[in-house]
Amino acid sequence: AKQEDLKGKKVMITAGPTYEKIDPVRFIGNYSSGKMGYALAEVCAERGAEVTLISGPVNLNVSHPNIHRIDVESAEQMYQAAKEAYAQADAGILCAAVADFTPEQTADHKIKREKDDLVLRLKPTQDIAAALGKEKKPHQLLVGFALETNDEILHAQDKLVRKNFDFIVLNSLNDKGAGFRCDTNKITIIERQGETPYPLKGKKEVAEDIIDKLASILH
Ligand code: C5P
Repeated sequence: AKQEDLKGKKVMITAGPTYEKIDPVRFIGNYSSGKMGYALAEVCAERGAEVTLISGPVNLNVSHPNIHRIDVESAEQMYQAAKEAYAQADAGILCAAVADFTPEQTADHKIKREKDDLVLRLKPTQDIAAALGKEKKPHQLLVGFALETNDEILHAQDKLVRKNFDFIVLNSLNDKGAGFRCDTNKITIIERQGETPYPLKGKKEVAEDIIDKLASILH
């Protein structure tokens, strides 16, 4: 039965934004709500999986007892937690909107408004997806997300190969009701063999579609 098709499987999911600290009271963040990642965690747990949900700062709660939530803030913290959890997992789903850059230095004290301008120097963060893709064992699956503004399919296909994903979920920004902060999403699943477009649906139903695909490859 579908309800139990992930029984005995361990799934690691990253969700939400990361916050990169500028000083004790300021950060660089993004608009990710975490809703898609939390919906995926719920669906996996309902279908019998043991879920480790590595979550950036979001306003969401988990209720299912089989979801073990680990709260992190920065890309570096998310990377450390994801690496550890993925080593034990059958599948990883990288749904988080991880910052690509972080301040080279975090000020110890609140930065004062004393100059005419302020230059922040940023350094690149770890690409969690690429790092896990390199460590991936033959029995493990890795699923990524892509949000593109142009040449969507082409860029997503490139990411699929570069990060060693088994499939990638493309969210279209060109579609109303898809992407950040919405309760609905419209996706295309891209595999090496080709792509499948899905209609606009609630994020929970979208999560079911994604987990159907995951389960079909896992078995
Ligand atoms: O390269 P891009 O950021 O568009 O790739 C998106 C995919 O890679 C998503 O699955 C996202 O969660 C993941 N990613 C990551 N760590 C990063 C950047 C992106 O895991 N530092």
